[in-house]
Amino acid sequence: MAAAAITSTLFSVLLINICLLLGSAFAEDPFVNYEFVVSYITASPLGVPQQVIAVNGKFPGPTINVTTNNHLVVNVRNKLDENLLLHWSGIQQRRSSWQDGVLGTNCPIPPKWNWTYQFQVKDQIGSFFYFPSLNFQRASGGFGSIIVNNRPVISIPFDTPYGDITVVIGDWYTQNHTALRKTLNAGKELGMPDGVLVNGKGPYRYNDTLVPAGIDHEKITVEPGKTYRIRVSNVGISTSLNFRIQSHNLLLTETEGSYTVQQNYTSLDIHVGQSYSFLLTTDQNASSDYYIVASARFVNETTWQRVTGVAVLHYTNSKGKASGPLPDPPQDQFDRTYSMNQARSIRWNVSASGARPNPQGSFRYGSINVTEVYVLENKPPVTIDGKRRSTLSGISFANPATPIRLADEYKVKGVYKLDFPTRPLTGAPRIGTSVINGTYRGFMEVILQNNETKMHTYHMSGYAFFVVGMDYGVWTENSRGTYNKWDGVARSTTQVYPGAWTAILISLDNVGVWNLRTENLDSWYLGQETYVRVVNPEPNNKTEFPMPDNALFCGSLSKLQKPQDTSFATSIKYCGLNLVYTSMLMVSALISMFY
Ligand SMILES: *[C@@H]1O[C@H](CO)[C@@H](O)[C@H](O)[C@H]1NC(C)=O
Ligand SMILES: *[C@@H]1O[C@H](CO)[C@@H](O)[C@H](O)[C@H]1NC(C)=O
Ligand SMILES: *[C@@H]1O[C@H](CO)[C@@H](O)[C@H](O)[C@H]1NC(C)=O
Ligand SMILES: *[C@@H]1O[C@H](CO)[C@@H](O)[C@H](O)[C@H]1NC(C)=O
Ligand SMILES: *[C@@H]1O[C@H](CO)[C@@H](O)[C@H](O)[C@H]1NC(C)=O
Ligand SMILES: *[C@@H]1O[C@H](CO)[C@@H](O)[C@H](O)[C@H]1NC(C)=O
Ligand SMILES: *[C@@H]1O[C@H](CO)[C@@H](O)[C@H](O)[C@H]1NC(C)=O
Ligand SMILES: *[C@@H]1O[C@H](CO)[C@@H](O)[C@H](O)[C@H]1NC(C)=O
Ligand SMILES: *[C@@H]1O[C@H](CO)[C@@H](O)[C@H](O)[C@H]1NC(C)=O
Ligand SMILES: *[C@@H]1O[C@H](CO)[C@@H](O)[C@H](O)[C@H]1NC(C)=O
Ligand SMILES: *[C@@H]1O[C@H](CO)[C@@H](O)[C@H](O)[C@H]1NC(C)=O
Ligand SMILES: *[C@@H]1O[C@H](CO)[C@@H](O)[C@H](O)[C@H]1NC(C)=O
Repeated sequence: MAAAAITSTLFSVLLINICLLLGSAFAEDPFVNYEFVVSYITASPLGVPQQVIAVNGKFPGPTINVTTNNHLVVNVRNKLDENLLLHWSGIQQRRSSWQDGVLGTNCPIPPKWNWTYQFQVKDQIGSFFYFPSLNFQRASGGFGSIIVNNRPVISIPFDTPYGDITVVIGDWYTQNHTALRKTLNAGKELGMPDGVLVNGKGPYRYNDTLVPAGIDHEKITVEPGKTYRIRVSNVGISTSLNFRIQSHNLLLTETEGSYTVQQNYTSLDIHVGQSYSFLLTTDQNASSDYYIVASARFVNETTWQRVTGVAVLHYTNSKGKASGPLPDPPQDQFDRTYSMNQARSIRWNVSASGARPNPQGSFRYGSINVTEVYVLENKPPVTIDGKRRSTLSGISFANPATPIRLADEYKVKGVYKLDFPTRPLTGAPRIGTSVINGTYRGFMEVILQNNETKMHTYHMSGYAFFVVGMDYGVWTENSRGTYNKWDGVARSTTQVYPGAWTAILISLDNVGVWNLRTENLDSWYLGQETYVRVVNPEPNNKTEFPMPDNALFCGSLSKLQKPQDTSFATSIKYCGLNLVYTSMLMVSALISMFY
């Protein structure tokens, strides 16, 4: 039966998925440990059985729940039949691009191997997510939410919510990532997705014609008269989604690590790769359940009707099922500024504290002088050397066999060039490993110019950047006059509307090699990315951590790699229930000791 869609042989092995253990090497900041087994399971989120990537047998994977400055240790076991890297989207990896989980910094974890990520979630709070970064795997799953809580000594700018609910939404194909990759490799488009999933589940049957029987939907149960924090991430492939909850306001409070000016929205556009927190007050009568909707944006709604995620908000005292039509999406077919104005309305709360006690606005980004300017322009896909590729500033990025950061460490020459152009190249597009030469402690202005007719979001690892402006047309020097120099929000993923530009400012204080990419998965797969290399001219272990002992080797350094004992699959008993319980007690005891 499709309703019992998610099955797993792993479930019996891994009764408890998350192990919290305590380390003691660095005294005051607690260690939080997770064991992640990444494997295929069969699931039928849209009623069609398919191979899905699960973490510990779950799809989506477990939520990572940590607090500012915790040391996070995630031992990842790769039970897929291909290489794997997990990327912690929006986690800044301060001084430690070694742990970022993208090909420019890490060698992939081969099938049957495990690799332990270890990093400190330094000076951060907020809502983020993780996903597998290689081979289009995100289209098959492997993702989950990340919560970074405030330390108890720093108050959040709203009353403590009654509950904390994570929601991942995203477009979905019933074909797996291998099949989708094949389509892209053949130079074809993926076409319209088959649906939108909410927490890994297909739509509630709100309409018998549009939704076939036997699909399992997500039901979120709440108590009446409370306020919940709902964290929503778009983990999909390429579709911007409008998120709304019938008859309820969404009070926006946080996005990707910044507390925003609190404002009510009846619906909000969430683009691929973005995360938001809302406060939801359960102040409606419980005459029925309510719809939670994530519908495709900027498309023909008649043909895209089935590409709609529908879940249910269920009050514990609800008297009936949700019925009738879905709440309307924004009616802005003829108003292309509506969504952009909504994006501009999202602003930083300059008086709220973020991860540190001082107000967010005490970092006055508007008064810092820019030291370098890059205009990055995408173009519709082109054929280069007989292959369909996508470009950024005329260059389609080719990942080197030896990761950039590793090549630097071992002084391997010729892996990449620090020649990424400050303005888009005008000649014939080319394939290359061109990297941006970032100046340590510089202040970089990046203009993202979207020359395609589809929506893009751009993400940068290692940093939160300030979104200071966006508009339709081509950016010029005069556009700077429109910048928000006061309360532009600091985040790691920004949308760039078709035929429009978005300007961001980045304070290059984090040493490492950092991915700058489109979150649109097919464009990324076809080469629309680069890296920003930030080097301290006086290297030391304070501005960048040394290479971790367990670093994997590949490419021209593969001879340094020792073989791994892959018999781990049966030796995970230490991760048992009792230990989890006791160590959770120990963590809370330790936390209360320090605050
Ligand atoms: C993906 O789908 C293809 C074609 O349907 C199938 O042959 C293949 O076994 C699937 N691969 C995985 C890893 O599920
Ligand atoms: C693999 O996992 C084991 C524990 O199960 C750990 O001791 C080892 O360090 C891990 N290997 C790597 C390369 O992280
Ligand atoms: C901004 O944060 C402050 C400090 O926490 C809070 O009191 C205030 O309500 C917030 N303002 C808005 C508009 O969200
Ligand atoms: C996260 O962990 C904290 C304890 O550290 C707990 O209070 C909180 O309820 C957890 N949040 C979620 C969403 O599990
Ligand atoms: C279901 O959707 C179809 C197609 O949009 C529409 O014609 C029909 O009126 C809907 N049914 C109900 C009960 O709303
Ligand atoms: C948001 O809407 C709720 C009702 O849903 C209301 O109680 C609250 O005052 C509104 N907040 C703001 C900042 O507008
Ligand atoms: C409950 O609320 C719904 C919509 O919010 C409204 O249509 C309905 O009339 C209300 N019912 C009662 C009994 O107040
Ligand atoms: C949307 O698609 C339908 C069905 O293909 C078509 O009849 C309609 O003209 C389209 N609407 C727009 C605005 O393009
Ligand atoms: C920025 O540049 C202006 C003139 O170029 C200079 O007067 C000012 O002191 C600089 N500000 C900072 C913070 O360096
Ligand atoms: C990179 O930038 C630094 C200054 O930040 C400069 O010294 C160096 O020469 C540049 N390297 C290249 C290859 O342009
Ligand atoms: C792309 O750039 C070309 C040439 O500059 C321009 O004519 C065209 O309008 C642009 N298209 C979009 C969607 O921005
Ligand atoms: C950094 O630490 C590593 C080992 O932890 C050491 O080998 C190296 O010399 C240190 N580098 C600097 C510049 O201090």
